[in-house]
Amino acid sequence: MPLVPTGELIARVRSADGAVAAFNVITLEHAEAIAAGAERVGRPAILQISENAVKFHGGDLSAVAAAAAAVARASSAPLGLHLDHVVSPDLLRTAHTEGFSSVMFDASKLNYGDNVKATAEAVRWGHERGIWVEAELGRVGGKDGEPPLDAHTPGVRTDPAEAAAYVADTGVDALAVAVGSTHAMTRRTATLDHTLITALRDAVPVPLVLHGSSGVPDDELRAAIAAGMTKINIGTALNTAFTGAVRDHLAAHPDVVDPRKYLVPAREAMAGTVAHFLTVVSP
Ligand code: G3H
Ligand code: ZN
Repeated sequence: MPLVPTGELIARVRSADGAVAAFNVITLEHAEAIAAGAERVGRPAILQISENAVKFHGGDLSAVAAAAAAVARASSAPLGLHLDHVVSPDLLRTAHTEGFSSVMFDASKLNYGDNVKATAEAVRWGHERGIWVEAELGRVGGKDGEPPLDAHTPGVRTDPAEAAAYVADTGVDALAVAVGSTHAMTRRTATLDHTLITALRDAVPVPLVLHGSSGVPDDELRAAIAAGMTKINIGTALNTAFTGAVRDHLAAHPDVVDPRKYLVPAREAMAGTVAHFLTVVSP
């Protein structure tokens, strides 16, 4: 089926007070697993490629994006394609190629004024090309190996009044907020601030995005969606499943050399993880 624009997938679930999951693609197997998991449970999903994944592919977006788009188009599930955590303005300007309908422009490391300025410029650029733009206010943390941030440090959690001003001043289509999750958690032990999520939902007119969802337990995810989260970003959980399956296979078959032997169970483990998260996020 043709790719579905991210904005359309979000609008559909938002009108039903639901959410859509967005999964990070690193390899072809990730894309295949996301499509397989979505088909298995009959749910929509978003395939997203981060700037870090582009760096892993030698700085070339085109090959991995073309592969993900081809997998998504060949799927019977409604799938969208999103460019994630873009810091580089040069990469941002490739976002309307290869089937991307949306981008997350990440200026969250800048101070408030510089974040607003850079994001407003990214939104202007995106909207001229029909691109849906997500941005981040507050600091989710945990990316690129940085230690988890102390959620009680001022400026780490997203402030509702500041979020309202930020959305008005930048024109973003969706807002990633810091409410207690952190990137790259391999255990699902995060506790979210659901009162803050509700306050943010009431303060801003755009959908809210939860980053670092791999570390959030199922019940916390359900409560976060009930409180107002609309896009649920999941990356590390797929890698945990993938690498665990590879490790198990190689331990049981130390002489194996054909990568297909361990990539088959690894891809299947990711598909199972995708299917599980999709049933939690969009029951
Ligand atoms: O943007 C991607 C996500 O925030 C993924 O975070 O790898 O901790 O699930 P995660
Ligand atoms: Zn993220």
